[in-house]
Amino acid sequence: MNDWKEIRVPLGDRSYTVHIAPDGFVRLAATLRERGIGPRVAIVTDTHVAKLHLPSLKKALRAGGFEAATVVIPPGEREKNLRRVSDVVTSLLRQKCDRQTAVIAFGGGVVGDLAGFVAATFQRGVPLVQIPTTLLAQVDSAIGGKVAVNHPMGKNMIGAFYQPVCVWTVPGILHTLPDRELVCGLGEVVKYGIIRDPGLFAFLESSLDSVLACEDDDLLRIIGACCSAKGKIVGRDERESGLRAILNFGHTVGHALEAGGHFRLLKHGEAVLLGMLAETEIAAALGMIPPEQVERIVNVINRVPVNVSLRSLDARTVLRLMHHDKKAVRGTIRFVLPVSVGRVRMVASVDPKIVRHAVERILQHRPPGTSAA
Ligand SMILES: NC(=O)c1ccc[n+]([C@@H]2O[C@H](COP(=O)([O-])OP(=O)(O)OC[C@H]3O[C@@H](n4cnc5c(N)ncnc54)[C@H](O)[C@@H]3O)[C@@H](O)[C@H]2O)c1
Ligand SMILES: [Zn+2]
Repeated sequence: MNDWKEIRVPLGDRSYTVHIAPDGFVRLAATLRERGIGPRVAIVTDTHVAKLHLPSLKKALRAGGFEAATVVIPPGEREKNLRRVSDVVTSLLRQKCDRQTAVIAFGGGVVGDLAGFVAATFQRGVPLVQIPTTLLAQVDSAIGGKVAVNHPMGKNMIGAFYQPVCVWTVPGILHTLPDRELVCGLGEVVKYGIIRDPGLFAFLESSLDSVLACEDDDLLRIIGACCSAKGKIVGRDERESGLRAILNFGHTVGHALEAGGHFRLLKHGEAVLLGMLAETEIAAALGMIPPEQVERIVNVINRVPVNVSLRSLDARTVLRLMHHDKKAVRGTIRFVLPVSVGRVRMVASVDPKIVRHAVERILQHRPPGTSAA
C-alpha cells in the first residue's frame, strides 16, 4: 500500500486538505508547518489510543521540531460532556498552552468531537488538526467541522461548526481497532455507497470480505472514496441547509434505535446499518426503488455483522423517539430514501403505517446465526 491521496474540502478561505497517508506520520510535521502550525501543539487523545499509538505520534512530532503537550481522557461516549471539556482546558492551561497552540484531536469520533469543541472555544478558538483513528472518524466525523458534546437531555446538544486546518488519516492505524468498531465504520461507508457512489457500492459487493479482514489496499480505497464524497457534500452545504442532509440516510430510524437502547445496546454505526435497512424498506413500500436495487442494498448490509439483539426494544418507543429527534421539522419526520444504489431523495411525509411496519420488522433483528423467534 503506497498510494498517497489528498482530498480537498472546498470552503473558501477555510478550505483544507484530508491527507490519506499510508506511510504514517512521516510527513505530518512538515505539512503542519506549511499550514503555519507550531512549534507548540496539544494532543488530545483517549487512553486506548494513547497506549497503542501516542508514542509514534509524539516521536514524529518531536523529530519535526514540535513540542507537544498531551491530554489523555478516558475512552467512551460518556466522556463527551462539558465537565470533560473543562478538565481538558484545565490541563491545557497547566501545560501553558495559549492562543498559538494548535489542538490535535487524536482518536475516534468521541475525541474528535470533544477536542474539536475545545479547539473552537479555548481562548475563543485555536487551530484544530484532526488525526482520526477509527474507521468511523476517518470516513465521517473528522471531516466537515461538526464539533460537539452531549447534554443530559440530548446527544450533541452543545456544539459548533468549526473546521480543522487539516485532517491526517493513516489507514494502517485501523489494524488495532476492535472488530465491532470496524463494523460501525462500515455502516457509514455503506451509506456513502448508497447515497452517492455506486462505484464504491459495487466495490463493497465484490470485496466486503477483504474489507472486513482489514486489507490495507481495500481500506485505502474505501476511505478515499468516502472522504471525497463527504468533502464534496460539505463543500456545497457546510451547515446542512440542503444537500448535507442526505448524510442522514439511515439515521432517522438509526438514531431512534440508538436512543431506545439508551446508547448502550447499539453503537452508532450499528444503528445506522439497521436504520438503512428499515429506511430502504420504507422506500420499497412507497414504490420508489426497484426490487433488484433493494435486494442489492439488503444483501450488502446483511453481510456486515451486527451482533446485537433488538429483542428489548419496542416499536412504540422507537417511533416516539423518531418524532422527538432534533432533525424532525415541526414534528414531521423527513426521510432520506434511496431510489437506486447511488441516489437518494428527501421525502417530507410518509404514511405512519409504512414507517411502523418497517420499524417492527427491524426490531426482529437478532445476531447473525441465531433464530429470530
Ligand atoms: N462530527 C461529526 O460529524 C460526527 C459524525 C459521526 C459521528 N460523530 C460522533 O462520533 C462518535 C463516535 O465515534 P467512534 O465510533 O469513532 O467512537 P469512539 O471515539 O468512542 O472510538 C471507539 C473505540 O475505539 C477506540 N479506538 C479508537 N481508535 C483506535 C485504534 N486505532 N485502535 C484501537 N482502539 C481504538 C476508542 O478508544 C474507543 O474505545 C459519537 O460521539 C458520534 O456522535 C460525529
Ligand atoms: Zn452517522
